[in-house]
Amino acid sequence: MKTLIINGSPKGRNGNTEVIIEKFIGSAKNLYQVCYVANEDPLKLAEYMKRFDAVIIVMPLYIHAMPGIMMKLIECMERTIDDGKSMGFIVQSGFRESEHSKYLKRYLTALAHKLNYTYIGTVVRGGSAGICMMPEKMNKKLFKQLQNLGEHFRLTRTFHGDIVEELAKPIRLSKGMSMLLYFLFKLGISDSIFWNGMLKKNNALDRKFDRPFA
Ligand SMILES: Cc1cc2nc3c(=O)[nH]c(=O)nc-3n(C[C@H](O)[C@H](O)[C@H](O)COP(=O)(O)O)c2cc1C
Repeated sequence: MKTLIINGSPKGRNGNTEVIIEKFIGSAKNLYQVCYVANEDPLKLAEYMKRFDAVIIVMPLYIHAMPGIMMKLIECMERTIDDGKSMGFIVQSGFRESEHSKYLKRYLTALAHKLNYTYIGTVVRGGSAGICMMPEKMNKKLFKQLQNLGEHFRLTRTFHGDIVEELAKPIRLSKGMSMLLYFLFKLGISDSIFWNGMLKKNNALDRKFDRPFA
């Protein structure tokens, strides 16, 4: 029986979530069916999900929460009456500290139980904002970890605790690292160089501090 992987990114195939899924699957493409929340009707996808014994939902963290399209899908999901179905999650985010995803992780844990699925776990990974734009070799360690995570899942239907722990590092930044990043930011030597470049490219630099909802 294939495992269903749900890509919960609004960017669908063009985002970092897709890269993470690709690495998790590796060469075992025939064992998985991948669906994109961005391209599907949520009611139909929730219905389709019922055909699978195992579901892994992979999503980015957007504004400290799940993307709205994911919430819409979850609202369509029904509690299963079949015992033995399992559900796991992979949440990836931009900020380095995985702690940003802790509330979402708590929600997803409760969700799996509420839907009567065996909870496989939630893998959390920070610092993933640029992975689909970076050269492969800059993500070598991450990709190897994801590959190992996927291989272990195929053998055991579980997430390997040690790999999950490694992927979640750092959970919080140390005081020293926070200070270092603060000074680098003040000196203009930080990832803001990259993000400012993106804003310039999209003619949006002058709107950097806009507060449309304020
Ligand atoms: C609208 C929006 C909101 C975001 N909010 C957060 C956030 O609250 N915390 C965080 O760590 N990263 C945040 N990010 C960064 C994304 O989690 C990160 O770039 C992720 O890799 C995007 O995955 P995707 O390309 O598959 O959509 C946000 C990105 C966007 C576009």
